[in-house]
Amino acid sequence: MTLSDTSAARTGEAVLAAEGLTKHFPVRRGLADLLARRSRVVHAVDDVTLTLRRGRVTALVGESGSGKSTVARLLSQLYSRTSGDIRLHGRISTVRGGRAFRAYARRVQMIFQDPFASLNPVHTIRYHLTRALRIHGNGGRSRAELEQALHALLTRVSLTPPERYLDKFPHELSGGQRQRVAIARALGADPEVLLADEPVSMLDVSIRLGVLNLLRDLKERLHLAILYITHDIASARYFADETLVMYAGRMVEGGDSETVTQRPAHPYTRLLIESAPDPDTIQGSAQAAAEHTPEDRAGGEPPSLIAPPTGCRFHPRCPAVMPRCSVELPPRLTVGDADGHWAACWLYAPDEVGK
Ligand SMILES: Nc1ncnc2c1ncn2[C@@H]1O[C@H](COP(=O)(O)OP(=O)(O)O)[C@@H](O)[C@H]1O
Ligand SMILES: [Mg+2]
Repeated sequence: MTLSDTSAARTGEAVLAAEGLTKHFPVRRGLADLLARRSRVVHAVDDVTLTLRRGRVTALVGESGSGKSTVARLLSQLYSRTSGDIRLHGRISTVRGGRAFRAYARRVQMIFQDPFASLNPVHTIRYHLTRALRIHGNGGRSRAELEQALHALLTRVSLTPPERYLDKFPHELSGGQRQRVAIARALGADPEVLLADEPVSMLDVSIRLGVLNLLRDLKERLHLAILYITHDIASARYFADETLVMYAGRMVEGGDSETVTQRPAHPYTRLLIESAPDPDTIQGSAQAAAEHTPEDRAGGEPPSLIAPPTGCRFHPRCPAVMPRCSVELPPRLTVGDADGHWAACWLYAPDEVGK
């Protein structure tokens, strides 16, 4: 058995997992708070549990402000967490800066929405990639080895021939090419996990598919575990194996992407999908997503995260609301139409099903 056979055989194995991940940001106290002696927090992420698997893409879908980026920053350990655990290969990992953070970042890399902001305009592509390779000890022992590693990175993201790109500055490339460079830089660490926070939402609609196909190719060839954050649920169906839906800091539904997008169970997911114009053409739906905010599509506004609604956070907007929804927080309940499909919704409580 070759090395790549072994890695392929481990496809599906849990690489990075979060349990009960929670982040509350303190809010600056105003006079009224000081007088009332209260301190308030933004409940950005509450009790998020997820597993990223080798050779799989997991989509995290939700409207703006639902806590997606905070989840990515917690998973990358750029933010410390209020509570919950992060496990890398089953072992709890808590790192705060320094060498431990660098060792963690070698395995868990992040890609951001705006490749222009994440690349320094005064440095060439060669500089960015060399630095990434060297920091993580992948720069080789000679100039020739470094050059070879640089060529391999650019080839991997289909920027070929590499010598055409190496000595360019970020502004000399198109948005799609810059995002490919950002991906190549992440690959310089030789990671196991990629956390991609809306990696195509700033790109022209016409080149989004190309970048998503590149990520898919990395998943298949390098067996990476990928978290794909998006507000566009149609692209999740196209691209992700598993889809998780977030609303106002909490996860509300999860399952394999086909099931969640074709038979959504949570009323929030249903609203998102019903109002997404054409789920079969990722380009059309991406365009529509850019033109209509998810808030327009689902009706109503997302709630305050300083004083989130009690019970289910979606209850004030929910067309199927029941009395218990404003009182009790629904747990993850099995939907029962496919393996692993769940919704945090009282509609799926055993005493409600079949009513
Ligand atoms: N550093 C921060 N300090 C205070 N509040 C924050 C901070 N980062 C994010 N938030 C708040 O947390 C919530 C979730 O934000 P975010 O994770 O960026 O959502 P998304 O990526 O889904 O748009 C928002 O209400 C946002 O205003
Ligand atoms: Mg975000």
